Amino acid sequence: MAKLDLDFVRAQFPAFEVPSLQGQAFFENAGGSYTCRQVIDRLHRFYTERKVQPYAPYTASSLGGAEMDEARTRLSAIMGIDADELSFGPSSSQNTYVLAQAFAQWMKPGDAFIVTNQDHEANTGPWRRLAERGFEMREWKINPDTGHLDPADLANLLDDRVRLVAFPHCSNVVGEINDVAAICELVHDAGAVACVDGVSYAPHGIPNVAELGADIYLFSAYKTYGPHQGIMAIRRDLGMTLPNQGHHFNADCLYKRFTPAGPDHAQVAASAGMADYIDALYAHHIGGEAATVAKGAAVHDLMRAHEVELLQPLLDYASAKNSVRLIGPSDAALRAPTVALALQSGAEAAAADLAPHGIMAGGGDFYAGRALRAMGVAADKGVLRVSFVHYTSKDEVDRLISALDQVV
Ligand SMILES: Cc1ncc(COP(=O)(O)O)c(C=O)c1O
Repeated sequence: MAKLDLDFVRAQFPAFEVPSLQGQAFFENAGGSYTCRQVIDRLHRFYTERKVQPYAPYTASSLGGAEMDEARTRLSAIMGIDADELSFGPSSSQNTYVLAQAFAQWMKPGDAFIVTNQDHEANTGPWRRLAERGFEMREWKINPDTGHLDPADLANLLDDRVRLVAFPHCSNVVGEINDVAAICELVHDAGAVACVDGVSYAPHGIPNVAELGADIYLFSAYKTYGPHQGIMAIRRDLGMTLPNQGHHFNADCLYKRFTPAGPDHAQVAASAGMADYIDALYAHHIGGEAATVAKGAAVHDLMRAHEVELLQPLLDYASAKNSVRLIGPSDAALRAPTVALALQSGAEAAAADLAPHGIMAGGGDFYAGRALRAMGVAADKGVLRVSFVHYTSKDEVDRLISALDQVV
């Protein structure tokens, strides 16, 4: 398999060139990634040349509308779904909130739903509120030592009353990659719907959602080299069954049913740059003709291989360090490079101590307080989180390790 050409990758991100960021190693990617040049260029072009109401017959407008459609068409093709099964919303939190309103209307008395305590609040809080409407909530709990979600525990919670199971592809503090395909199969066998939070996974390679079997798959473009948008995939028959949350006259248009707000035209259009970036990586490393979904898969594998190689030494370092508790698996192949460390002292202060070393990282609970509490992490200390993606270099990871060694 081709190896990731890091010089080529980093040349796609203006952040690596600007003087203000020289000498700064970025390790808060799980909070929001750098933006690729292709997205920035499209955003700039939209605001300078196409910033009119889209879908009208004059040229600037029709180009703007076509670019918005292009974003949905090309990203959905990478995900293995139809273009109208993908919609954009202001954020994944808001997309989930709207979906939860639809489920609240659709579910019947006596129905139950399952949430986890591994999720970011975005994919658990809105669902938990269904309990206030009289639906039975069941919690799929993590192992308090490892943070692992065991599918056998889910199997024990499932029965024919369960309509929905919401779980993460990968938690933003545990980092372990859940076996989405196997979990979706369990969920479907019980006649329920699977809603997967892919926000912490997609930056490491946008997945083939059709292959995973998720009925709903959410991720955030601004953590995946794009603009500040939430991306939501929803299977057609489910989307057409759940009550429409958009304007009544848009009810027949699947991609408008769960996005009640007017879209951010420029950002939707600029999201096509995420597909440009994946195409550029494919053309540079592999080349030739292939179906878009296959290109997406190849780029995913390229990114993962680089990340896994860089991640293992960091995990080995953290596992061996007595003053640190590594949250989640110590085997890089099992997890994303989103590494939470529980320290003996406060994590926010540790992040501040890393800053003079040129390390950009954060401390806190990262809205995953339920998972951290379940694992016995002190709320007043939180975790130091160091997260990276495929554009991170070995040199940056080495610098992180040596800075950690002085700080924690
Ligand atoms: C795992 C996970 N899910 C959901 C969200 C919420 O995404 P958004 O900021 O787009 O609402 C985040 C944000 O940090 C996250 O890390």
